[in-house]
Amino acid sequence: METYRIDDDIKAFKYGNPIETGAVVKKGTKAHQENDFNIKFKKNKCNIAIKLLSNDMVYGLGNNLGEINKRGRIYESYCTDEPSHTEDKVKLYSAHNFFIVSGDVSRGYFIDFPTRIKYDVGYYDKNYFNIEIYGQDFYIYVIEGKDANEISNKFLKIIGKSYIPPKWAFGYFQSRWGYKNKHEVKKVYETFRKNEIPLEGIYLDLDYMDNFKDFSISEERFSGFKEFANDLKNDGLYLVPIIDAGVKVEEGYDVYDEGIAGNYFCKDKYGKPYEGVVWPGKVHFPDFMKEETQLWFGSKYKILTDCGIEGFWNDMNEPAIFYQDEALQNAVDYAQEKMGQNLDVFSYFQLKDNFTNLANSNSYYQSFYHEIDGQRFSNDEVHNLYGYYMTKSANLGICKLLEDKRFLLISRASSIGMHRYGGIWTGDNSSWWSHLEQNIKMMPSLNMCGFFYIGADTGGFGGHCNGELLTRWLQFSVFTPLLRNHTAIGSDNQEPYAFTEEVLNNSKSLIKARYRLLPYIYSEYMKAVNNYSLMFKPLSFEFKDNMSKEVEDQILLSNQLMIAPVCHSNHKGRYVYFPEKMLEVSFLDMNMITSIKEKGTQYIKYGLDDLKFFLRKNSMIPHIKSSKNSKELNQENLEVLAYVDDEAIYDLYDDDGKSYDFMKGKSFSTNIKIIRRNDDYEIKVDNNNISIKNIKFRIIDSNNNIKIKEITLS
Ligand code: GLC
Repeated sequence: METYRIDDDIKAFKYGNPIETGAVVKKGTKAHQENDFNIKFKKNKCNIAIKLLSNDMVYGLGNNLGEINKRGRIYESYCTDEPSHTEDKVKLYSAHNFFIVSGDVSRGYFIDFPTRIKYDVGYYDKNYFNIEIYGQDFYIYVIEGKDANEISNKFLKIIGKSYIPPKWAFGYFQSRWGYKNKHEVKKVYETFRKNEIPLEGIYLDLDYMDNFKDFSISEERFSGFKEFANDLKNDGLYLVPIIDAGVKVEEGYDVYDEGIAGNYFCKDKYGKPYEGVVWPGKVHFPDFMKEETQLWFGSKYKILTDCGIEGFWNDMNEPAIFYQDEALQNAVDYAQEKMGQNLDVFSYFQLKDNFTNLANSNSYYQSFYHEIDGQRFSNDEVHNLYGYYMTKSANLGICKLLEDKRFLLISRASSIGMHRYGGIWTGDNSSWWSHLEQNIKMMPSLNMCGFFYIGADTGGFGGHCNGELLTRWLQFSVFTPLLRNHTAIGSDNQEPYAFTEEVLNNSKSLIKARYRLLPYIYSEYMKAVNNYSLMFKPLSFEFKDNMSKEVEDQILLSNQLMIAPVCHSNHKGRYVYFPEKMLEVSFLDMNMITSIKEKGTQYIKYGLDDLKFFLRKNSMIPHIKSSKNSKELNQENLEVLAYVDDEAIYDLYDDDGKSYDFMKGKSFSTNIKIIRRNDDYEIKVDNNNISIKNIKFRIIDSNNNIKIKEITLS
């Protein structure tokens, strides 16, 4: 074991000879050996036990199920295609091994290790957090700090800044698996425009490809793709096509041929390209651990960028494997052997399980290999890096192709480190109320692990969504950086106009509200990333009272808002806990109805035709007039909603939204200060954003007195 010091509060313990995952960018220097924790090394594994005190909370673990407080549950880090997010599940698509144990003392831990880790967070014994690491070579980073919030900020600093998408990526996107051809896509676009619902782009699922082949476009269904994409783009509409991890095995298909010629694919135990089965049938998996493969695969996005595409969606990169030939053959052989027999329960279960357990079997991941610096590793040994390195490869390739232009890139699988290359969506959720609630809980956990460009499939991916669920979901998703309504093939239509007139009107107003709030959401995103702070926070990160620790379905958006969505059908409102006095805002109402809420729990009415949030005292948020897309947004007349008793300050960040010039300091700031002076307010604005000409203020105090003020900027 070796000890490294990153700074006064962060040290790293290195055990064995770990694979360098690239998760951490601030490595530190070798220091005096210090006491490590009590690690028990067993054959090929090791265990760590952390004592939990009765009031310790556990935060983090990113893309996983459960509560904001992770205590009392089992979790696993092993990227898995898990389409059914039921309560008994322990792992999802990503592996995010950062967590904080926070009580009287708080401490953060990051286990930098590329494959399976199991976490029993006080499940079997509530007094112990037991961690089982499936290997003996890893780093553990230990981060000290005064509380969980400070520890998160320190962790974000050592893993480096999140990926930054273009501003248009913060618009509203429609998606579905099953928009069969360009005419259907066009129809979606036209229906949005006809109904005057803002729309930034449409995701293209497998349907656009020729026979599920990566970097191909179906001539039959999407002929003239380039013109089609460009026509839409001229009207400010972006297409975001999917790319899968597996490359179809087919001689004569250029990507396959190049992969074979370049030796870019993962190998089986005989040294031949490994074959698994995904959408197109047999596929090979690019070995993203090799730099040559990264460069090659990244360069393939050119076929899309040449058509004017600037948004991409990497999928099935856990990687998901439906089956392996041999396993299917065994299942078939067993079935044939048992045909006509009188099966007892065990043989029947065996017969059934042989088929139902075909997908993503552990044995598949043990049977193909990567090359890292000339050394061979089974996928199982580096499993959690696959989606990360696919997305890194895409990012590096697209950066070259689009040069100074920012692009949208999301991935399904990830581990910490990938956050610097792309965002993620939370995977194949369902049109269930509980998944709306899960979405809320996951957002702060993802931020803690470095992921900021995040969102769930709004309305739910699997199953049939109804108008009420879609509306309630939008009431939350309008606050998440990635806002995409997406659903599976075979499910009912889920576009805002697919339900009743009432649903159409309500969702339209909500999507418009997203555009009204876009300057604020973009500003908070950029500030969070640049300042290494969280955009979404559990209440307990700000408020130290006991009740705030138990609230799981309300979160804070930066320093200004508390969001408390309705997550149950038929409810006309909900109980909301106010950790301090706040201003209740009905944002959709033209007159913006507001009222003061005292500290404590209260029932708040929340209709389907509303967007509610709670503004903290002495804070403000900017908003503008909505438009059909981000390109058309006009900031000339900025409005500010403020709740001020004493003094409030807001710094509205902005930049060109397109290039990386902001990294060279080319960004705008509108610093607004509102100071209470008896019955009036003094306003000071320090602004270098020439697109803002006028600011209209609606300032409310704790007696719900409203003052309207307006200033023109010189
Ligand atoms: C996976 C993705 C989903 C997509 C589907 C078809 O299940 O998670 O979003 O629609 O594949 O490509």
